[in-house]
Amino acid sequence: MTNPPSSASGSHSETAATADGSQNQVPWWRRAITYQVYIRSFADSNGDGTGDVNGLRSKLPYLRDLGVDAIWINPWYASPLADGGYDVADYRNIAEQYGTLADAEALISEAHDHGIKVIVDVVPNHTSEQHAWFVEAKSSPPGHPSRNRYHIRPGQGADSEQPPTNWTSVFGGPAWTRLPDGEWYLHLFAPEQPDMNWEHPEVRQEFLDVLTFWLDRGADGFRVDVAHGIVKDMTFPDMAETTEVLVSNTYDNHPHWDRDGIHEIIRTWRSLLNTYDGDRMMVAEAWVRPERLPLYLRPDEYHQSFNFDLLEAEWSAGVFSTIIDKAVAAAADVGSTPTWVLSNHDVMREATRYGLPAGTDWRRWPATGPAEDLNVGLGQRRARAAALVVLGLPGSTYVYQGEELGLPEAWDLPEEVLDDPVWERSNHTQKGRDGCRVPIPWAKDGPSLGFGDGDPWLPQPAGWSGFSAEAQAGQPDSTLELYRRAIALRRTLGAADEDLELLDPTQHGLNEAESAEVLMYRRGSGLTCMVNFGSAPVTVPASTETELVRSGGIAGTPLDPDTAVWFTA
Ligand code: BGC
Repeated sequence: MTNPPSSASGSHSETAATADGSQNQVPWWRRAITYQVYIRSFADSNGDGTGDVNGLRSKLPYLRDLGVDAIWINPWYASPLADGGYDVADYRNIAEQYGTLADAEALISEAHDHGIKVIVDVVPNHTSEQHAWFVEAKSSPPGHPSRNRYHIRPGQGADSEQPPTNWTSVFGGPAWTRLPDGEWYLHLFAPEQPDMNWEHPEVRQEFLDVLTFWLDRGADGFRVDVAHGIVKDMTFPDMAETTEVLVSNTYDNHPHWDRDGIHEIIRTWRSLLNTYDGDRMMVAEAWVRPERLPLYLRPDEYHQSFNFDLLEAEWSAGVFSTIIDKAVAAAADVGSTPTWVLSNHDVMREATRYGLPAGTDWRRWPATGPAEDLNVGLGQRRARAAALVVLGLPGSTYVYQGEELGLPEAWDLPEEVLDDPVWERSNHTQKGRDGCRVPIPWAKDGPSLGFGDGDPWLPQPAGWSGFSAEAQAGQPDSTLELYRRAIALRRTLGAADEDLELLDPTQHGLNEAESAEVLMYRRGSGLTCMVNFGSAPVTVPASTETELVRSGGIAGTPLDPDTAVWFTA
């Protein structure tokens, strides 16, 4: 294997002083701001209505100016897009709609020129039904060795008419689909996404080869999809309780989530990454019990794992503080740094989520439109405050495209444009995730607000012109400028240390009642963040001169409800 020249081109790499005064190079991912690009909806260079690699290339200067350290690109591989590209037909090629392999190589190299690392999304749990392996398995008779790369089995009952187990798909309905010859194949997601059999040596080797392919092209890291799902209980037991969810929370010895056998596989990936220079990394999407997560972060396994606790948290000072405290301690225990995520391509955008009445269950992608009492202004205020929370924290913060524009969820997409398999699989009871995947508005005008020249694959709601990057650039009160300023400040002030202290607001001039509604933390550098979750303004223990940025209101005045401020102390 030949290693390419170091991809550690980041102009943002830093050194940190250690206690004995020596300088240590800090791996870039420990404190990176990583911007998630849902490529299908980012920027369309050729007018076909779908985002593409060259569209992303054209926006690299925007991302550089935003100040991000890395981008994570959702799957861009050849795919029939039955699940937005998480159904990969060829792991070594780019989807036709998105461009060519040469475009992808150019993107990686240009991103590096801008000091931006590139994290590629890899999907080991399942392929597309159009992957050559599944095509071969499907067209081969029962018993043929090609079937062993997947979980293809006879069903139950005299004529095999019942599925092998009662497992359910995360997207709704049974997790097994019957082939014309009577056998069944497993798909924990859509039927177009057959699960691979990770007990098969060829599957293990193939995936190492795929990682090598992208490492050799300069990928700086991998986001590993459904990292907790690849190993199955090969005795295929029925489950006592079946739920269509991605988590193993309430189930001991779950037959397909978080099985111990996963770890020996991860170690082979890690060993491969370790042979490359440039701090190549892996971040796991692993929905597992909190006490099991550290297992994935042992020194010879993942570098990082997404922490979805803040994303799922209700708007409350106490809840936010507890999550932050625990996450920082848990990461320190395993020598990693915490990750912070407010949203991604699978969940309702936070600018809408935070405006829903407390207790609303937004997680199952509800089919009905916004509650009449959705409070748009409130959601947006809180989303801006939450941005200052996560951008100020130590560790790595993931920003989903459009978050920096304050984009809301597109609730009212017409049913006929819905594309997420969840819509069909749930018998139209869940609308799915399209509402957070609407193409980005770049310009104030034009048929798709600067996304591209054609009709966008999902329509942008009326009124999105004001959310466009063009409308917000240079406007001091805009969400875009808030992100730019906070990220720039983070770089100069906050990012150079990994220390965090949660402060007791009663020690900083607030009374007990006020303090219960306020989150306050200080970084080693002195950067202090204060957030008012309550309903009345609170005094900020800083002078106008030491105030750095606020998510709303006027510097030097009391901090409004649902607002955050940074100052130095
Ligand atoms: C991805 C989803 C995808 C699923 C199946 C997830 O966790 O984030 O978008 O539908 O994996 O690949």
